[in-house]
Amino acid sequence: APAQTRIDVDLAAETHTIAPEIYGQFLEHVGTQPYGGIWVGPDSDIPNTDGIRDDVFDALKALEIPVIRWPGGCYADLYHWRDGVGPRDTRPVRVNMVWGGTEETNAFGSHEFFNLAERLGAKTYLNLNLGTGTAAEAADWLEYLTAEAGDRAAERSANGRETPYKVDFLSIGNETWGCGGALTAGAYADLYAQYASFAKTAGDQPVRILSGAHDGNPEYTDTLLGHPYIADLIEGVSLHVYMLPTGEWSKKGAATGFPEAEWASTIKRTLRMEDVIADQRAIISKHEDLVDGFGLYVDEWGMWVDQDEAKAPPALYQEGTIRDAVVAGLNLNIFHHNADLVKMTNIAQMVNVLQAMILTDGPDMVLTPTYHVFEMYKPFMGAEALPVSYTSPDYTLGDVTLPAISLSAARTAEGELILALVNADAKASHDVDLTSFGAKKAEGRLLTAKTMDAGNTFADPDAVHPVPLTAKAKDKKLVLDLPPRSVAVVVLK
Ligand code: AHR
Repeated sequence: APAQTRIDVDLAAETHTIAPEIYGQFLEHVGTQPYGGIWVGPDSDIPNTDGIRDDVFDALKALEIPVIRWPGGCYADLYHWRDGVGPRDTRPVRVNMVWGGTEETNAFGSHEFFNLAERLGAKTYLNLNLGTGTAAEAADWLEYLTAEAGDRAAERSANGRETPYKVDFLSIGNETWGCGGALTAGAYADLYAQYASFAKTAGDQPVRILSGAHDGNPEYTDTLLGHPYIADLIEGVSLHVYMLPTGEWSKKGAATGFPEAEWASTIKRTLRMEDVIADQRAIISKHEDLVDGFGLYVDEWGMWVDQDEAKAPPALYQEGTIRDAVVAGLNLNIFHHNADLVKMTNIAQMVNVLQAMILTDGPDMVLTPTYHVFEMYKPFMGAEALPVSYTSPDYTLGDVTLPAISLSAARTAEGELILALVNADAKASHDVDLTSFGAKKAEGRLLTAKTMDAGNTFADPDAVHPVPLTAKAKDKKLVLDLPPRSVAVVVLK
């Protein structure tokens, strides 16, 4: 392997727009998301606007979130929308039977979700209930949300919202090979086709996303797309990919205090995303009847580690560390490389669940290292991805050898050249030679940490935060020195 990263870039090559929705979020009813993490209710002592806590809202607003998926996940297949509309004190209290058996007050329902998305300026991605719902219930919900006239619109107005809501993206069913009903691909495709035939909104129709494979069953998507009537009912198919440090669901590995072997195996598993997308690309390209612009929607991805049971955490609550930040940077670079096909991704999840942006504890809030990566990468939303190829130095641990450096480049609407870089090496710094861009300067920000498992805690909420970074002239080259365990975004000038 070369000692230094060398980049080949053709600044005149054809580009693909990085869909802003690649920076999408996922809000499922799990643990303390939404209750406590987002929704505290109008009467809470925690400062809030219409029940949404202000500190979390302001932090989310700063991310310029393009789209939010709701209400699940597995929970979507248990969710009955009528439970979550109307006066909050009359909404039924239920039990979240899929995630931790917690109380589900239904205080955060359709109006609360759509109002939150609107205040954030985010598009909406609704996941309809195929598991315990009916096609009639799904159709009713869409009419209630989007109709201009009629009884459903009147009911929505009586519940406080006269103007129809906009459903931008729609899925029916979730992980139908697993929690969503353990259906064969053929059985799901039949059911999807039936539901989708009646799942209409008033006005513009949403982009319809068929729930597809995970990283271990790519052929599920192939069978779905082979259904004789499906092509007219979908604009995209989803993919779910989680990064488990060990790769084992029964013992995934810890969030902190892990050995370097689990750092390396996490990086290795993350880099597989490139191959998993390539497999889906090959499958999609076989099906010639799909609409132009048909997309792959990675509507769940991210780190999933074991919970620290000694702390009795809420369901799927995990600490965030610099390892997560590196995983986020690697995935986002891969999504940029595949910008022609990947039209949306939704990191799992937004607040207090899995690889969250934000963790809360009562009135306190911390931003995770992953939050900072999403904030640093914002200029990539809507930018034109430049095709880059590069050779990286190795990161070696025992008999595992991986590329240390990952990068992606883009040109913004304002004409700026931007570069995102990750040094996934747990121990060593690496130089990246930027000379091929023909720039004189490169400036931006860097996120790194002293240890592999450092993160932001309630006791030390700003331990991991971005710092300024400038490229240096070395031997007539423009070189960026990336410390171990780091993510950087720079503008080339
Ligand atoms: O994100 C947590 C869960 O992971 C989702 O509910 C489900 O779709 C997936 O298995």
